[in-house]
Amino acid sequence: MKKILVTGALGQIGTELVPYLRDKYGTDNVIASGRIKESCESVVDTGPFEILDITSRENISSVIKKHGVNTVYHLASLLSATGEENPQALWDVNMNGLIKILETAREYNCSIFFPSSIAVFGPDSPKDKTPQDTVTRPTSIYGISKISGELLCDYYHTKYELDIRGLRYPGVISSAALPGGGTTDYAVHIFYDAIKKGKYTCFLEENSSIDMIYMPDVLEGAVKLMEADPGKLQHRNAFNVSAISVTPKELSAEIKKHIPDFSIDYDVDPVRQAIADSWPNSLDDSAARAEWGWNPRYDLEMMTKDMLSKLKARLKQGD
Ligand code: SER
Repeated sequence: MKKILVTGALGQIGTELVPYLRDKYGTDNVIASGRIKESCESVVDTGPFEILDITSRENISSVIKKHGVNTVYHLASLLSATGEENPQALWDVNMNGLIKILETAREYNCSIFFPSSIAVFGPDSPKDKTPQDTVTRPTSIYGISKISGELLCDYYHTKYELDIRGLRYPGVISSAALPGGGTTDYAVHIFYDAIKKGKYTCFLEENSSIDMIYMPDVLEGAVKLMEADPGKLQHRNAFNVSAISVTPKELSAEIKKHIPDFSIDYDVDPVRQAIADSWPNSLDDSAARAEWGWNPRYDLEMMTKDMLSKLKARLKQGD
């Protein structure tokens, strides 16, 4: 039986992954955790929750031992824009946190899901349909932490035979919780402002192309990878995944189909623009499709329609 610990459970992905895993494996078998405990109906108020300092080996160890955890979805991480504001804090959470999770997983023989990112690529990587295996020389501290994390996960798999798997996420679009401090956050903020104000000021240039993925595909993809036959996985850790290739201009045009008066203007943030410019325009995710059946359901049109209807309903309730 799976006993799962989710770190960073109150973040953008955790807020939806925890209830998804609880539906699948049973509420008591999914322990959510976070640096602080705050009310959150889908995570804290409806199942087990532990306050967890991801940089404390003792703390991680005691939670894993207490609940008999055998699988960790390690989501706790700072994102790219926040990282440029405080590189040292990012390193502490992303790298010290990861190695303590890996060491504790080694002790208790846990499987691990590690989310990596398109940020592992850099200006020297091919820009279009960036391959699974290619140059990865990132220039953001976030990207450096994610490529180091990928290598560390591979090392623990090879040296200690730990079952570690992971995906390189593009920008994640979702309606339940806001992303915190990423370069791709515009693709979520635009929906909130479209509904609330009918206009949005974007911090990236209109033709900045970055791949995106909608939350239902994020959830299905993570669990499908963790359930995949290990014999079929040649890469294991850090599969490119993608679903939607889009620019701010194209996304705003799609929103306009539903909100005809919607308008967008641009006030470019040089830090986030430089990060976006260093990332791929689009990813080649054929390895994920071939090795474990990655097959996202949501394209730009379906995502926009669903996102607007979910967010409108949520904002109406005053959440
Ligand atoms: N969404 C992340 C960021 O923008 C990329 O993985 O930092």
